[in-house]
Amino acid sequence: MKFFADTADTAEIRDLADAGLLDGVTTNPSLIHKAGRDFLEVVAEICGIVSGPVSAEVVALDFETMMKEAEVVRKIADNVAVKVPLTIDGLKACKALTDDGTMVNVTLCFSANQALLAAKAGATFISPFVGRHDDIGFDGMQLIADIRLIYDNYDFATEILVASVRHPIHVYEAARIGADVMTAPPSVIKQLVKHPLTDNGIKAFLADWEKTGQKIG
Ligand code: E4P
Repeated sequence: MKFFADTADTAEIRDLADAGLLDGVTTNPSLIHKAGRDFLEVVAEICGIVSGPVSAEVVALDFETMMKEAEVVRKIADNVAVKVPLTIDGLKACKALTDDGTMVNVTLCFSANQALLAAKAGATFISPFVGRHDDIGFDGMQLIADIRLIYDNYDFATEILVASVRHPIHVYEAARIGADVMTAPPSVIKQLVKHPLTDNGIKAFLADWEKTGQKIG
């Protein structure tokens, strides 16, 4: 499963990239607001750090303006994936952009039928939001399993990008289901390394090493 970081914080992105943990990045207007930086500038910087897909979202709701915004965004770098909302105009933009060789991430997916439409429109990625689905009492991971089944039934090439990931169990379940990608905040990716037995083991080994009175090098 590919790992994308769901952030516009370039320091965090560099940190994860240095550990070889990043296959791409996703941003959205809220994350750009949180970063407090110019949209085009920060996306360009991220594209220079990560060679994989970097999602940058258009904000227009009508097809023509969406395409104008997409034109600006896709010029930033070859690894930009234009993010469009799951609406009819968004799907039209998805079709036009992917036909033209641009990667497209269709976002804000909350049903298997929506995912089916995105695949038919040629989406590179579909982003079902598991955390927001859980928040309103639906099983976000069941949605991922349904989309996996449907895409496999018809051999759709669209990659399932599990979004709105909130904790390590989401990552574990997405990997078990066979999602292609998951995008999570850097804090969640860093949480994956944590295990109390690892910490205890390090402590015990260091205590015994002290007793040997030796040094390495
Ligand atoms: C995905 O591309 C979105 O940016 C993101 O995963 C949304 O997550 P949230 O529901 O935690 O805001």
